[in-house]
Amino acid sequence: MYKALVNEAARARNQAYAPYSKFAVGAALLTRSGGIFIGCNVENASIGLTICAERAAVAVAIAQGHNDFAAIAVVTDSAKPCAPCGACRQVLAEFNPTLQVVMATTSGATQEVSLADLLPLATQGLLEAMPNV
Ligand code: THU
Repeated sequence: MYKALVNEAARARNQAYAPYSKFAVGAALLTRSGGIFIGCNVENASIGLTICAERAAVAVAIAQGHNDFAAIAVVTDSAKPCAPCGACRQVLAEFNPTLQVVMATTSGATQEVSLADLLPLATQGLLEAMPNV
């Protein structure tokens, strides 16, 4: 499933800037209306300022006026499909806590999971703390 989306994530992976880890990651977000927005990891000599592919894709989509996300594909050249890091899970949950997450490797292994299973109770109780929303 999500073959076209995985292909786009694989294409984005080729643009990754990952001179430190050498671990290139590509991501592609699918909107409910069928739009696709891609991102790749962008590393930094500080290491801590590295941007993951998933969050890069979110920024690209938002900048183009889209936040109705249905699925994200993540492509890595690893033995097992790579799950989004905790920070990316939280950022993705902002827009769709039940987002479909499609993890794929360059050799063709795939795994699909709901973001709800990767990040249970994502914002439970949190919004109550913000009276202005
Ligand atoms: N990385 C991502 O871009 N997405 C993930 O899901 C896992 C990790 C990046 C961050 C860093 O540039 C490199 O992979 C190694 O952690």
